[in-house]
Amino acid sequence: MEGLLKFITCGSVDDGKSTLIGHMLYDAKLLFADQEHALELDSRVGSREGKIDYSLLLDGLMAEREQGITIDVAYRYFTTERRSFIVADTPGHEEYTRNMAVGASFADLAVILVDATQGILSQTRRHARICVLMGIRYFVFAVNKMDLVHYSQREFLKIEKEIRKLAIDLELSHVTVIPVSATEGDNITLKYSNMPWYAGQTLLDYLETVNIEEGTEEPGFLMPVQRVCRPNHSFRGFQGQIESGTVQIDDEITILPSREKARVASILVTDQKSVFARKGQAVTISLNREVDVSRGCVLVADTELTVSTMFTATILWMDDQELMQGKNFLIKLGTKTIPASVMDIKYRIDINTGEQIATSKLYKNEIAVCDIATASPIVYDTFSGHKGLGSFILIDRVTNMTSACGVVEHSLRRSENIVWQKLDITREIRAGKMGQKPVTLWFTGLSGSGKSALANEIEKRLSLDGKYTMLLDGDNIRMGLNKNLGFEPEDRIENIRRIAEVAKLMNDAGLIVLTSFISPFASDRQNARTIIGDENFIEIYVSTPLEECERRDVKGLYQKARTGKIPNFTGISSPYEAPKHAEIVIDTGRQPLEESVRIVLEQLAPYLTDDAG
Ligand code: ADX
Repeated sequence: MEGLLKFITCGSVDDGKSTLIGHMLYDAKLLFADQEHALELDSRVGSREGKIDYSLLLDGLMAEREQGITIDVAYRYFTTERRSFIVADTPGHEEYTRNMAVGASFADLAVILVDATQGILSQTRRHARICVLMGIRYFVFAVNKMDLVHYSQREFLKIEKEIRKLAIDLELSHVTVIPVSATEGDNITLKYSNMPWYAGQTLLDYLETVNIEEGTEEPGFLMPVQRVCRPNHSFRGFQGQIESGTVQIDDEITILPSREKARVASILVTDQKSVFARKGQAVTISLNREVDVSRGCVLVADTELTVSTMFTATILWMDDQELMQGKNFLIKLGTKTIPASVMDIKYRIDINTGEQIATSKLYKNEIAVCDIATASPIVYDTFSGHKGLGSFILIDRVTNMTSACGVVEHSLRRSENIVWQKLDITREIRAGKMGQKPVTLWFTGLSGSGKSALANEIEKRLSLDGKYTMLLDGDNIRMGLNKNLGFEPEDRIENIRRIAEVAKLMNDAGLIVLTSFISPFASDRQNARTIIGDENFIEIYVSTPLEECERRDVKGLYQKARTGKIPNFTGISSPYEAPKHAEIVIDTGRQPLEESVRIVLEQLAPYLTDDAG
């Protein structure tokens, strides 16, 4: 018996996906007798005038029947005499691309339905492209509704030619084309006499016999560490699932990213002692010496992986909000989750033509090639090298939603060849000489909220108190370092990123830094916090309401914005996302400046004192 086959069915709304799978289950006698009876009864009121409506068999049943479309990923499990299957039935239309990507990520093979009366549609191309992106290597194109084209060989050959061309465009490796009728049953499990010209296998026959393991062996041994377990002082085990290869007691293992080496001392497969383990097994491995291993590390042997902070990837953008260059996320790759930014969107790929189109923004369901930078070195491989360590998701740091999925194309040399230089004079030494704790006071709030005035007064007070400080102010920085940036969202993202990097350097120099920028986006402030370090970052939300800022209108900008003379003005035509967990909140409209300063300084005091002070 062949091993389990996981496949996905893709098609447009009326292609007859559910009918196809339903028919296969029915013919293969995979239904219980009473289910079959119920189906026949049900179909009397169904859409096929008393004939059996096979689509009624699938999950998501109710909604599909009410709306006539499939709305979620439905997984079906079935077994024939020759093989076991799991099939993901996913909705075809564009707004459900996310579901399709999820379904495809688990599958080894895709059955793509093509309507014989319509031929290849842009949907077909999109589905095939997403399947390729998610690593599927086996494709069956089921040219359905052959009954509606009178089982014409000519019509079939015409469509088959289109499919072969698509296969070349997308570099699909294993492509099979089968003419079928999902409603009548031709070539689903049985060959009827309607298409004597077709000499190939039926769909089920093909699915039962295809060998998807061929040429999929990934090199070497590889296990990402899921958990470090320490039941007692003498034992330290590294748990995870083996992604490729085999391991034996006494094998030499390299631990990434540290590149330390050690030998395997013991192996547990689930909870049984073993001398050997292989791909797919959940294991606990202990080593013959103490090494630095934590979750997200990878144990390898006889294979090369990359450790770096930058790579080029193809991503599928799935978020309602558009993606802008510079945006910060959490990346989940293997067992590691760390902050990362999309630094540069190189181009998006036209789903229909495959054309590369230059862009700086990505909209929902678009596929693009971009450069991704991680906050710290990460262990990865290209997707063609090791699927498991060459694919990732990007998680929105504010909403916690999966915004994109992607695959690594290649590492970026410029980051591989850059190594952090250890310096003898450290931040601690510099700060120690100044007798202070170098932190960043990050003021955020609307234009005219009083950020700059407040930050200015506070710097004066700190300075009088003998502290060494530096104030970075929005308007001033925009006249120098950031003079090439405007107020489009992607410019603001870059504005804040640079400020955060500068603030960090100044903290490294030992200084207390005050920054005064609107910094309207929560994810950018989160990114700044990551760059500067949570323990050094004190967010001060100057919460003066919009009405008050607009009433003051110190620079006359609100008036201009209201009359449309300034586009993208924060609070008027561009959003301000108020902080939810700022360390300090102050509304400057409620009391004189001197009083606001006193309140903030009082709350700041505990953050400024520590061992260095
Ligand atoms: S941020 O959004 O990128 O953080 P930043 O604090 O650097 O903005 O600059 C804001 C200052 O630029 C405002 O105080 C105002 O003087 C000026 N400005 C000019 N155009 C705009 C705009 N469209 N939106 C907000 N501020 C603007």
